[in-house]
Amino acid sequence: MQKKEPAVRKGALIWRFLQGSKGLFVVSMLLAALTALTDMITPQIIRAAVDNAIGGNEPTFGPAVMKLVNALGGFEYLGKNLWIMALAVLLVAVVKVVSQYGFMLSNTRASETLTKTMRDTLYTHIERLPFSWHMKNHTGDIIQRCTSDIETTRNFVAGQMTSLFRIGILVVLSMVFMFSMNTTLTLIALIPMPVIVWYSIHFHNKIGEGFKECDESEGRLSAMAQENLTGVRVVRAFGRERYEKDRFEKHNEEYTSLWVRLGKVMSRFWASSDVLSGLQIMLVVVFGAVFCLQKNMTSGEYIAFISYNSLLVWPIRQLGRMISEMSKAGVAVDRIGYIIHSETEKDKENAVCPDMTGDIAFEHVNFAYEGCPQMLHDIHFTMKAGTTLGILGGTGSGKSTMMLLLDRLYDLPADCGKITIGGVDIADMKLEHLRKNIGIVLQEPFLFSRTLQENLSIANESLTLSDIREAARAACLDETIEGFTKGYDTFVGERGVTLSGGQKQRAAIARMLTQHTPIMIFDDSLSAVDAETDAKIRKALEKRFGSASIILISHRITTLSKADQVIVLDKGRIAEMGTPDELEKAGGLYQKIYEIQSLTKEEVDA
Ligand SMILES: Nc1ncnc2c1ncn2[C@@H]1O[C@H](COP(=O)(O)OP(=O)(O)O)[C@@H](O)[C@H]1O
Ligand SMILES: [Mg+2]
Repeated sequence: MQKKEPAVRKGALIWRFLQGSKGLFVVSMLLAALTALTDMITPQIIRAAVDNAIGGNEPTFGPAVMKLVNALGGFEYLGKNLWIMALAVLLVAVVKVVSQYGFMLSNTRASETLTKTMRDTLYTHIERLPFSWHMKNHTGDIIQRCTSDIETTRNFVAGQMTSLFRIGILVVLSMVFMFSMNTTLTLIALIPMPVIVWYSIHFHNKIGEGFKECDESEGRLSAMAQENLTGVRVVRAFGRERYEKDRFEKHNEEYTSLWVRLGKVMSRFWASSDVLSGLQIMLVVVFGAVFCLQKNMTSGEYIAFISYNSLLVWPIRQLGRMISEMSKAGVAVDRIGYIIHSETEKDKENAVCPDMTGDIAFEHVNFAYEGCPQMLHDIHFTMKAGTTLGILGGTGSGKSTMMLLLDRLYDLPADCGKITIGGVDIADMKLEHLRKNIGIVLQEPFLFSRTLQENLSIANESLTLSDIREAARAACLDETIEGFTKGYDTFVGERGVTLSGGQKQRAAIARMLTQHTPIMIFDDSLSAVDAETDAKIRKALEKRFGSASIILISHRITTLSKADQVIVLDKGRIAEMGTPDELEKAGGLYQKIYEIQSLTKEEVDA
């Protein structure tokens, strides 16, 4: 499921997310550079003060600095008035504080803007991804990609990237100052650097892999928690709390131990890199002291050199962390890229919006779910416009799949037959147009945690309450809703009433009816209501159907008996087709079910 993205693509993705925050990041980089520069100046002031006041000799600087020194009264004057030097240190510190403050402000602003852009982009993209994509991917995992992976990417751009820039400037400036003071000592200071850098890179792969494992384990853990919370009823009803708790603990344990293992690797790295940098500092201190004794270096230069060296060692040591954070960010960007680079639902170039009141035809349709054996075999039939088609078949025979194909929640691959409405292939239609004209009540209705009124009007927000009530009446739900103390303002779901299966189904029917579509599909939509209510709803519905084409999927023969045509589906194949009257006597599956369902109690007992 997770492919590694090439670095260029990762960069392009981050560049795209930087829309709107680039300017702010540039400002914070400039301020970071200014802060780095102030770090460079203080050791020079101290060097001048030490050499001048203690050593009694005049340090040499570039012409610009000498001009400034002369304007202030020359070294001799400055040596007698050390407070000027102290003031200069203070002044530099103030500039540093102000630029650091500005950096924090602009960087926070930039990173929050970046996070917002990432969240918006991802959410918009996910909304447009096909149904099949959503069926393939765990909700918990998607949520993790939209939260903690975004967080990691943000930290990378706003933290590591700006730090890297700052480190770059620090390193370059430190080297310039160090070389200007003593070439030999600078070269000595640089000798251990390649080892430190090589060492960091050596750990790069190890740490990256560890982070990936941790991330994946976290995804599994949150997917599990999410599924458990959603299925809390099943867990309780089956007394599976203990089992689920144990399962969670097992995963949690695995997750924890992965982090601990990663922690061990990281500690080893930090400890050994501590030793390496200690050695480097030792080299500079020892050789610097020797050069001072040989009069090749002044005390002021020695002190300044050690300051620059520590400024240099710090970023080099940070390199290890940078690299590990970068590999972590690389994984996070990969995971976000997986979503962003998943193909969204798209219309064909010349997609059409034809009249949808024509005949519906399945022409030799074959279909298999991805990675599964063939499910539908040569489904071929025509349903006249304005008629009612009944579909009967055992569970798993492919009834719902046919409807998902008709609504293009799954696209029919090429060479797998076609589905037409009014002679036009649905693959050539605009998706929005197609779905707007097909009202579908799915087998497992889903209601949002919103009020009933909001739930019933999702198809069209401008519906009036009387429109909604009219639809609810047809679905035999109006009375039930009126029975709730808050009526149509009743909250559904976690924060409100929990509707029964039958009530949910009726709410889903009412929601569909508000659309007034020329094609209506009821996928086993009355299975959870009793036979009497079923009959009542059907009667109320018939009045509203008018010229619409209706597809009724049901297990109840009585539900299908009014259909103009019935298809009996068996293991993905059409086993029988005809009017209910014909099928009652055809001697097939329909007749068998018809006979079982029309037996009286006495007959069953007998
Ligand atoms: N998203 C899916 N991926 C793989 N197989 C699926 C998917 N959805 C359904 N199936 C399988 O396809 C078959 C037909 O399912 P379905 O059309 O829902 O049957 P019915 O509605 O007739 O009960 C079943 O065997 C089911 O397990
Ligand atoms: Mg089904």
